[in-house]
Amino acid sequence: MKVLVTGGGGFLGQAVCRLLAERGEQVSALNRRRYPALAELGVVQHAADIRDQDAVRAAVTGCEAVVHCAALAGLWGPASAYRSTNVRGTANVIDACLRAGVARLVHTSSPSVVHAGRDLEGVDESAPYARRFPAAYPASKAGAERLVLAADGDRLATVALRPHLVWGPGDPHFLPHLAAKARCGRLVLPHAPGKRVDTVYVDNAAEAHLLALDALTFGAPPAGRAYFITQGEPTTLADWIDGLLAAAGLPPVARRVPARPARLAATAVEYAYRLARVRAAPPITRMAAVQATTSHWFDISAARRDLGYEPRVSTAAGMGRLAAHLSGNTSRRP
Ligand SMILES: NC(=O)c1ccc[n+]([C@@H]2O[C@H](COP(=O)([O-])OP(=O)(O)OC[C@H]3O[C@@H](n4cnc5c(N)ncnc54)[C@H](OP(=O)(O)O)[C@@H]3O)[C@@H](O)[C@H]2O)c1
Repeated sequence: MKVLVTGGGGFLGQAVCRLLAERGEQVSALNRRRYPALAELGVVQHAADIRDQDAVRAAVTGCEAVVHCAALAGLWGPASAYRSTNVRGTANVIDACLRAGVARLVHTSSPSVVHAGRDLEGVDESAPYARRFPAAYPASKAGAERLVLAADGDRLATVALRPHLVWGPGDPHFLPHLAAKARCGRLVLPHAPGKRVDTVYVDNAAEAHLLALDALTFGAPPAGRAYFITQGEPTTLADWIDGLLAAAGLPPVARRVPARPARLAATAVEYAYRLARVRAAPPITRMAAVQATTSHWFDISAARRDLGYEPRVSTAAGMGRLAAHLSGNTSRRP
């Protein structure tokens, strides 16, 4: 099968490309940069911007399926940047699939599309989209997911996956940020007793994409639907973060602030940054405060039933792989 992975050079995209390549698919990737790791896998690389409609059409031509992982992720930045990459970029992917006669589109969405800032405890995919979002990123991901699911039809079958807090070897985002703060003694967590969150090990999230690709045919149960993808092992944010820090050889988080003042401080500091037109991200954002002070864990029985998804790497095993990777004892994947 000829599969294009947009964002194939990113954290999750590389894991998807690796699994596809390992099972013998012809994989190509679309990113703005070229990635040596993809070249090693034999992945054909298109250096293009997802916002460039002609370039996306050219990359999609000749493919049988597309996995759309590319996105601008983050907790801060102009809404226009998130909209153009995540919403318009997704519209370009759909347009290109329809023009090229691609039959299957697997889109990487996010559980943040349903998180308006209140507790989400064991909710399933019947949870509605949030009406207000704490940041531009989840708003843009909701816009993109709506487009993808609405595009499902008799020419193109589509599905959206919502992996939550992806972690593991090769994470260029969350763990490096945490570790840097921990090393200079600036890591502080809001105290949120009783709140639990879901996460997902990167290889489990990647495998879900392949399962979705395989299960997606016209009119099949996954067509036109979204699925939460997690470890199925909700935990407290503090325990998960302490696990990541331990894997990196760092001590657990020692400093806590009460949840309510943390949320108020995030709102105030965001307001001040906007007023002063500061481009840099504030030390705490509303979205980070919401994520750290609420429960957000999900029912994954639909993914188990329709996709055959099982989080095959347990959290304990994943932490072991991460520790081995960080200590230099293994390559990216043990
Ligand atoms: N990581 C998580 O915890 C998490 C959780 C839920 C959902 N997700 C979703 O999972 C997907 C992958 O996330 P990730 O963590 O792997 O992110 P990532 O490491 O930042 O990867 C993003 C990829 O998208 C590409 N990209 C970004 N802007 C682009 C543009 N304008 N044109 C072409 N390519 C562009 C990047 O390549 P270049 O920079 O080279 O262009 C990169 O390969 C995203 O859709 C994200 O929303 C992630």
